[in-house]
Formats: sequence, C-alpha cells, structure tokens
Amino acid sequence: MRAIRYHEFGDESVLRLDDVPDPVPGVGEALVSIRATSVNPIDAKLREGIPSPPPSLPHVAGVDLAGVVESVGPDVDRLDPGDRVYGTGFGWDDPGTYAEKAAVPADRLAVLPDAVDFETGAAAAMAFATAWRALVDRGDLSVGDTCLVHGAAGGVGHAGVQIAATTGATVVGTARESDADAVREFGADAVVDYRTDDLGAAVRDAVGAVDVVLESHAGANLDGDLAALGRGGRAVVIGQGRDLTLDPGTSLGAMFDDVDLRFMSTMASTDDHARVLGRVGSLLADGRLEPEIAATYPLAEAAEAQRYAAESGVTGKVVVRTASEKS
Ligand SMILES: NC(=O)c1ccc[n+]([C@@H]2O[C@H](COP(=O)([O-])OP(=O)(O)OC[C@H]3O[C@@H](n4cnc5c(N)ncnc54)[C@H](OP(=O)(O)O)[C@@H]3O)[C@@H](O)[C@H]2O)c1
Repeated sequence: MRAIRYHEFGDESVLRLDDVPDPVPGVGEALVSIRATSVNPIDAKLREGIPSPPPSLPHVAGVDLAGVVESVGPDVDRLDPGDRVYGTGFGWDDPGTYAEKAAVPADRLAVLPDAVDFETGAAAAMAFATAWRALVDRGDLSVGDTCLVHGAAGGVGHAGVQIAATTGATVVGTARESDADAVREFGADAVVDYRTDDLGAAVRDAVGAVDVVLESHAGANLDGDLAALGRGGRAVVIGQGRDLTLDPGTSLGAMFDDVDLRFMSTMASTDDHARVLGRVGSLLADGRLEPEIAATYPLAEAAEAQRYAAESGVTGKVVVRTASEKS
C-alpha cells in the first residue's frame, strides 16, 4: 500500500510517499481501508520529533481517519468488515493514518453515519472530539452558559464554537479580524481579536463574565482567561504554546472566584472515546455540526497539505484524500 512516512525528523520536506506492506490487525484492532485523513498540529510536532520519546522511525504520519473496516483482529466485537468508521487519537508511536490502510485500536473508532461523507468524517474526528470532550465533558458546559473559545477560526476552535452554540451557550470566539465573519457564521455571538492588549477586558466587554473557556494557546491567553472567568468558571487547557506565566493579581482574583483550571488530551482519552465520536457523528449526520474544509489534497501532496495548514488565516480543516472516490 502507499503511505506517507518520514525517515528523519524535520520540516514538511521529510515527508515521503513510500510503498509499504499492508498492516495486519492485532488483538483488539481493526484494519481500516482509509478514504481520508486530515492535518492536525500534532502531525508537525511528531514530524519534528518534539514529543518525548519521539515516534520511532520510519513513521507513518497522521492521527485521524475515515474509511471502511476491511477486517478485524481477535477480540473485536463492536465492528464488522464493511462498517463505515471514523476515529482519532491513536497512540503516537502507532503507525499513522496518511496511508491507504491502518490497523488501529477498535475502541478508538466509531461508526460514521451514512449521511456523513469520508472527508467530513476525517475533518471532524480530532477537532470535534477534542472540542466536545473539552467543553462538554471536562468543561461541564450547559445551556445558558457563556463560553469563550480560542482559535475560533481553526480546527478545534471552529468545532468548539459550533458545539457551544448547539448546546445553547452564548459564545465569544477569538480570531484575527479577517476571520471574524467566518467565526460568526460558525455560531459565535461575538468575536475578539486574540492579539488585543487586554483580552480579559475585551471579552467581558463583549459578553460579560465567562463560565467556560476552551484554551488552545494558554501561554498567550491564560491571564486573560482568568480575568474573563466569573465565579466557579472553568478553563480547559488543550494547548500551551509559549511559556506560561500568570500575573499574581489575576490569579488571586481567580482564587477568590473559585475558578477551576483543567487539562485534557484526546490522545490520552480512553473509555469514553468511542462514545464522544458517536455523539459527534450523530450531530454531523443531522447537520447541527459541520466542519469547514479549507482545502483537500491527494495523499501524494501531503507535504503541501501540511505546509498550507501551518499558514495563518486558514479557516477550518485541511483534508488529505487517500482514495480517489469521495464517499
Ligand atoms: N489536547 C488535545 O487533545 C488537543 C487536540 C487537538 C489540538 N490540540 C492543540 O490545540 C491547538 C489548536 O489546534 P487546531 O487543530 O485548532 O489548530 P489550527 O487548526 O492550526 O488552528 C489554530 C488557530 O488558533 C489561532 N491562534 C494562533 N495564535 C493564537 C492565540 N495566541 N490565541 C488564540 N488563537 C490563536 C490561529 O489563528 P491564525 O490563523 O490567525 O494564526 C488558528 O485559527 C494546537 O496547539 C493543538 O496542538 C490539542
């Protein structure tokens, strides 16, 4: 089969289209004939060898997929050959998903409803599962809450805006000015530029005190989040970026307000993973959630797909098609 691998760590130029043997599903695994995958920031971090330990080389890129189950290994009873599935968050030393096939843990997969095409499933898997788990499961978001979603034009952020709006929350998203209209179309009631001088004040001016924050750039924003959060508020951190420092006055205010700081990783979520994907899948099927696909590339152009996704101002997700047909 064809797969995009890297044999050394580095920038996008290390990605190579290789011919490799078809994987064989082990215990608890399903062999998936992959139709589409998508670009996620973790792809670049793995490709650059940043996690400790880094993936072993050569490594097949990619952490999410949509496709059809070809066969299953021992001890898999949830899925059958022929099932349409999507999934994400396979261990980062597992073979990746920029490939025509992958043998992946079956408990990281959910059935993809017939109404949802493979590119949509691949675009949604990591971004929407992450946003759902951060806001609903870790953030306890509920109807009537006010929710701040950072990076609201990006993959996870645009998913978070849609999920929060669907939940019945008032939503403020952060994005550069040129992406503000797109973020409003995703369902935000207000948009604040994340480069503003006083983020906490700008958010409070726009929507008042916030109940839940989806934080993807904590190093830049956490001070502002704590200032924006009201009594009993929750900030859920999914990404840090630069070094994290907190103003003592802001953190004292957060202590007085009983603010709760939580962290989460989709790569590490276990028991409830398939449930989250199943819930997202049904909302994709009835049109209440819909990933924005900024561009689609063929497998052979995966390096170009990663280069494009890393640019500023890309709205939504970049998809990599691993098969020629769409669904
Ligand atoms: N913990 C987890 O399970 C998990 C899962 C998925 C992703 N993540 C992490 O979450 C982050 C976002 O992922 P993604 O897939 O949404 O990436 P993405 O598609 O690249 O989107 C990132 C968005 O954040 C915006 N942004 C840049 N700097 C910002 C800042 N200081 N404050 C607010 N927004 C800012 C970008 O805007 P511009 O276009 O203007 O630059 C872009 O719209 C990444 O760090 C990723 O590794 C974590």
